[in-house]
Amino acid sequence: MGVYNDRVLPRILNDAGGSKRLDPLRRRVCEGLAGDVIEIGFGSGLNVPFYPAAVASVAAIEPSDLSWNLAGERLRGTNVSVQRSGLDGQLLPFADDTFDAALSTWTLCTIPDAAAALRELRRVLKSGGTLHFLEHGLAPDERVRRWQRRLDPVQKRIAGGCHFTRPIVDLLRTAGFAIKEVDDFYEKGTSKIAGADSLGSALSP
Ligand SMILES: C[S@@+](CC[C@H](N)C(=O)[O-])C[C@H]1O[C@@H](n2cnc3c(N)ncnc32)[C@H](O)[C@@H]1O
Repeated sequence: MGVYNDRVLPRILNDAGGSKRLDPLRRRVCEGLAGDVIEIGFGSGLNVPFYPAAVASVAAIEPSDLSWNLAGERLRGTNVSVQRSGLDGQLLPFADDTFDAALSTWTLCTIPDAAAALRELRRVLKSGGTLHFLEHGLAPDERVRRWQRRLDPVQKRIAGGCHFTRPIVDLLRTAGFAIKEVDDFYEKGTSKIAGADSLGSALSP
């Protein structure tokens, strides 16, 4: 699994995540980001083209060297200052109250301890800072949930530890975020099992 996770999966995620059909979702989740921003699970920088001009800097947290390298062209095409600043969203190398905003897209499914990552985001966000999120997770319908539970073990193996069954909004609330807005929907063009999305923003009080 080492070679697959290190050399193959980042390319699959770059191709699948770079699909044009996802552009409107990436544009929506990035709307309103401003100031100094932290992005966890930066991947190959697929959100970079959608950073608003009001973003001053981005601290990118990403464990995969290949994903970071795949971001090269997008990084050269932006005026925003983006620095790879850490490898693990569960342990952020920043002081408390550092960032104005945070971004996470399709990442809380994969970080081993998503609750720890959200606690860390709360810690490094200034009071009143917002987390912009676009995540897939536990579906609203029990019939779909049953399939998500059945397929979770396979998904974890082939998709770098990704879970179908994480209750995203519950995790945010438990970490102390106040949901400002959330849109729950099934993503067009993918199965309901993988595409039960939550898109919104949450305030760090
Ligand atoms: C499904 S990809 C999403 C990538 C990107 N956010 C996007 O929207 O296309 C999940 C990302 O989370 C990263 N990741 C895995 N474990 C992580 C961790 N502990 N901390 C931060 N990122 C992690 C993976 O390397 C991968 O780039």
